[in-house]
Amino acid sequence: MNFQPDPKGPNGFFGLKSTWSTSLSPLENGVGGRFEGEASDLAVFGEIPAEINGTFYRIMVDPFYPIAEGNPPIEGDGNICALRIKDGHVDLRVRYVDTERLRLERHANKRLFGLYRNPFSHHPCVRAAVDSTANTNLVYWAGKLLALKESAQPYAVDPDTLETLGYDPFLSPGKTFSAHPKVDPYTNELVVFGYEAKGLGTDDIVIYALDKDGKKHNEQWIKAPWPAFIHDCAITENFIILVLWPYNADVETMKAGGHHWTYDRNRGATFIVAPRRPDQTKPAGWGPDETSRVYHWDHAILLHTAGAWEDPSSGKLYLESSRIFYNVFPALDPSPPPNQMTPFGDLPMRADYVRWEIDLTQPTNSRVPEPEVILDMPGEMARVDERFLTHKYDTIFCPVIVPETEKPCPTRLPILPVGLDAYAMLDKKTGTTKMFDPGHNCTVEEPIFIPRSKDAEEGDGWVLGMIQRLDVNRSDLVVLDTKQFEKPVAVVQLPFRTKIQIHGNWVDENVKVQRGSLVRTYDAVTVSGRSALEAEA
Ligand SMILES: [Fe+2]
Repeated sequence: MNFQPDPKGPNGFFGLKSTWSTSLSPLENGVGGRFEGEASDLAVFGEIPAEINGTFYRIMVDPFYPIAEGNPPIEGDGNICALRIKDGHVDLRVRYVDTERLRLERHANKRLFGLYRNPFSHHPCVRAAVDSTANTNLVYWAGKLLALKESAQPYAVDPDTLETLGYDPFLSPGKTFSAHPKVDPYTNELVVFGYEAKGLGTDDIVIYALDKDGKKHNEQWIKAPWPAFIHDCAITENFIILVLWPYNADVETMKAGGHHWTYDRNRGATFIVAPRRPDQTKPAGWGPDETSRVYHWDHAILLHTAGAWEDPSSGKLYLESSRIFYNVFPALDPSPPPNQMTPFGDLPMRADYVRWEIDLTQPTNSRVPEPEVILDMPGEMARVDERFLTHKYDTIFCPVIVPETEKPCPTRLPILPVGLDAYAMLDKKTGTTKMFDPGHNCTVEEPIFIPRSKDAEEGDGWVLGMIQRLDVNRSDLVVLDTKQFEKPVAVVQLPFRTKIQIHGNWVDENVKVQRGSLVRTYDAVTVSGRSALEAEA
């Protein structure tokens, strides 16, 4: 499929060249981004349920300066798009995370940083700076909104003004903090890990929990089987399962001008399982000094997890994730085979959603059984009702690529996650799947789930997600009721097309400590008495 814009078309810029060409994704129709501001009381079609009261925080990759050529699409400054919903009204604020890196570049008024996570490619005067763009996730914890990038510690951001408050607010151990820490709702802890935690290319992993006040507990250090891309994890009541992607980090490659990551088609999908608490009872057969075990399967990329749980009768762990059979980052494959069929590799361009079984009594480096396919279509960025995280759940809300469709969507390639074009609600108990299809020329993003009430049944509530309408170059936020999933109860029209979100999270107003506004507010206004109806004095 040809993504080259017509030179005379709206995105062709009449054939004029720019350093910005490296930063404009064809999948975004040339969406420029790069602005900050607010928009109050957005247009709403339908009715947003009154019970929805909180903020949907989305983070977008939005390079402030043109990124260096050759970078993967995960490079670029983090820009926050916050949507606050109250009494059926929606306010919006957009603001960059003022990272150390962005402040350095804005002062110099030019790009100073090179390849993603390769400090040797940065300008020598900034190599000692934190090069995190804070562009991957936003998590609210201990009264702080955290802008996360797994290459560094979090930036704390004011949840109302979105002003950047500081780096490393919890003075966390190690050099890195995952973009996917997990909240255990039963113990009220944020379970955190960091990899390459002792520096660039190291195989050291730190695991710990932050309590409700941000105080650290249960710190432990383990080793990875190789310096691997460990983007996501899942937690059960007693274990953390780290999911390793088949890419290698090698400092010599970086010094030679290569990427931080090199795709390795010889590596399998790999899990590291570790007890969450160093002093807890170890599984049967584990040695007294054994801190973790490694399990693997065939080559595949398990991009994100939905959740995990323990089976109390067998002691086995279950984890659900996407399973992708091709390299999702073509830029990170330095030696593609000569007969490669697509930019995404020579492997079958296939993906599905599966359940893995991990038997902790099996020795380390064992192979896990074939997973059970729970959704036989490409799916990614799935969410569950996180009030029950660590426990078994029945409902999954998953962006998917609709199969066998004739929708004329220009991104109709099995590219996860940017080609996703519908939401599936999977009820595992009944085996039924309901779909919300936004229609032609639309893509969907990672959704959020809001329970109908504090005590609502698992999976009962609303699903919100941003729809990118490629035909009219606009973004709409849809509100879906889980009781009638196929048609939105409300659509919020944004006044522009936003950049694509990486991740986003819902922060209920009851949870938030701060009590400010995203947009400017108005005090009581006194009528001046100077209208045309009033007599001239
Ligand atoms: Fe992620």
